[in-house]
Amino acid sequence: MSLQIKSFEEYQSEYKRSVEQPEEFWASIADHFFWKRKWNKVLNWNFEEPNIKWFEGAKLNITENCLDRHIYANGDKPAIIWEPNDPNEAHRILSYKQLLQKVEQFANVLKNNNIKKGDRVCIYLPMVPELVIAVLACARIGAIHSVVFGGFSARSIADRIVDAECKLIVTSDGSYRGNKTIGLKNIVDDALMQCDTVEKVIVLTRTRTPVSMIKGRDVWWEDEIKKVETQGNPACPAEEMDAEDTLFILYTSGSTGKPKGVVHTCGGYMVYTGYTFMNTFQYQPNDVFFCTADIGWITGHSYIVYGPLSQGATSLMFEGIPTFPDASRYWDIVDKYKVNIIYTSPTALRSLMAFGDQFVDKNDLSSLRVLGSVGEPINEEAWNWFNEKVGKKNCPVVDTYWQTENGGHLITSLAGVTPEKASYAMFPMPGIQPALMDENGQEIQGNDVTGNLCIKFPWPGMLRTTWGDHDRCRQTYFSTYKDMYFTGDGCYRSPEGYYKITGRVDDVLNVSGHRIGTAEVENAINMHADVVESAIVGYPHPVKGQGIYAYVIANHHTDAEATKKDIMETVSRIIGPIAKPDIIQFVNDLPKTRSGKIMRRILRKIAEGDISNLGDTSTLQDPTVVEGIIQGAEGLK
Ligand code: WT7
Repeated sequence: MSLQIKSFEEYQSEYKRSVEQPEEFWASIADHFFWKRKWNKVLNWNFEEPNIKWFEGAKLNITENCLDRHIYANGDKPAIIWEPNDPNEAHRILSYKQLLQKVEQFANVLKNNNIKKGDRVCIYLPMVPELVIAVLACARIGAIHSVVFGGFSARSIADRIVDAECKLIVTSDGSYRGNKTIGLKNIVDDALMQCDTVEKVIVLTRTRTPVSMIKGRDVWWEDEIKKVETQGNPACPAEEMDAEDTLFILYTSGSTGKPKGVVHTCGGYMVYTGYTFMNTFQYQPNDVFFCTADIGWITGHSYIVYGPLSQGATSLMFEGIPTFPDASRYWDIVDKYKVNIIYTSPTALRSLMAFGDQFVDKNDLSSLRVLGSVGEPINEEAWNWFNEKVGKKNCPVVDTYWQTENGGHLITSLAGVTPEKASYAMFPMPGIQPALMDENGQEIQGNDVTGNLCIKFPWPGMLRTTWGDHDRCRQTYFSTYKDMYFTGDGCYRSPEGYYKITGRVDDVLNVSGHRIGTAEVENAINMHADVVESAIVGYPHPVKGQGIYAYVIANHHTDAEATKKDIMETVSRIIGPIAKPDIIQFVNDLPKTRSGKIMRRILRKIAEGDISNLGDTSTLQDPTVVEGIIQGAEGLK
């Protein structure tokens, strides 16, 4: 039996089976993977603590599933196709055999640098094949990787390194993005001034930007590989891991406090990413799969690295940006490598749409069979453009809804197998039991209803904890509704039973598909010397989905425009360029209730430009502040 569901009827029967007999269901899926030892128990769980264990007692190494097991039949098949930032630079193709060899080499480099099973390794690299190699090398020896996206600042890297107590960081001298060169090692150097757990820094050469190399701490990737080569035995046996051993940590923002380290474990994550990859995209043996995400986010972890590779797929990774050298770049890549499946974000689509159809119309694109979207709700206009201009109305569009915490897709169509509808995520994956909840904590039954989206039953790819703070995991995800995982998203279930995600119901923003916590941005703004207080809200943005609107009380600003730029720079330093506000409005006061709570509802309305219906303002300490803010908002957008 194959992993793949092939018809709507089969989806319905598999879904039923997954709900009625979840353990048998997931055991039958897990049988498609290579285990050094099978499990004693498929599932043990409660959502109170929470305590979630899948495939207890089983032993495996995920890299044997992603690499070794494909070598015999498919050793020469491309595992990774790499397209560089500059289309004139040579591309690279790594076969499964070559990728395994490089992973083993680098795993030995990690060992030489004193990394052992359970140690944490921070990875801060551009989108080059060595990023995949470093990730898999960690998994090979049981080290826990924590990949940090290249758009985060030194301070954000430092916070993540300190939280996970990383012993080593892998980075590069620099990275290329469009026509810019960014000095990554410099950023790491700044970060390391604030971390004392890091013993070694491995630096890959990419841009040959000048870097400081500190004796005893910093070593070159290439030199370390040479050392391993001269040591003789290049192989590196795969460490035997427990199914519930941590595979990686990935930091993500919430509505409060600092980003938390979402923990994924080896067995369940492997099964869930492989299963969802094969089913959502209906991958066929010789397909080229192109996920445009960065490996610094969960989408890249699950659908560039682990999901495709565990299934022996060919995964295309792209170093650059969609608009360089011009807005045809994705479509040029599709034609160059005859891409069959493209998986991208509504933000990218909207930004490309704005450049005009000539950039997509000139390409052939006839290799495409499946189109995927991820990261934020996709509006109908972008969905239609994707379907018509890119897919030539010939390719199913899957809108995949999920989160960092979920490991893989929760709600999505299966390409060409289950129905689709513009702007609907559609159906739960087998194994996913959604519930819509009302304000009183009751599940809303029936169709044509809206509520807060929860999941009632565990699935193998879900988070197990938040690194170093299990209670934070419980509070964030499992305490709002009893015995439920709460996503933080609102959701509508149509008369037909189709699911449509309506967006976050908490203070989390989704800017260009990046999750940003309002509290985090406020804290960063408040660090600016002149700032007294600030409040952040999201507002609809034509390309980014949501933009960041900052209301700021500042002490003195003789040159308001210059101060705004300084505030932007401060946010860039503290969090990273991705969290910079789009609009800053200086205000004299913020609308607060008598108990001192900022009334964000009002600020949101003003940011949206919808001041006709501000609701009840009588509970404000001083209702007159609202008028001043409305006046100040004029002309800012
Ligand atoms: C949040 C998770 C793992 C995907 C990449 C982002 C929003 C994600 C969709 C979608 C509507 C979506 C949700 C979710 N989201 N995909 N297809 N339709 N909303 O992962 O950074 O963990 O963000 O992104 O609001 O909670 P993330």
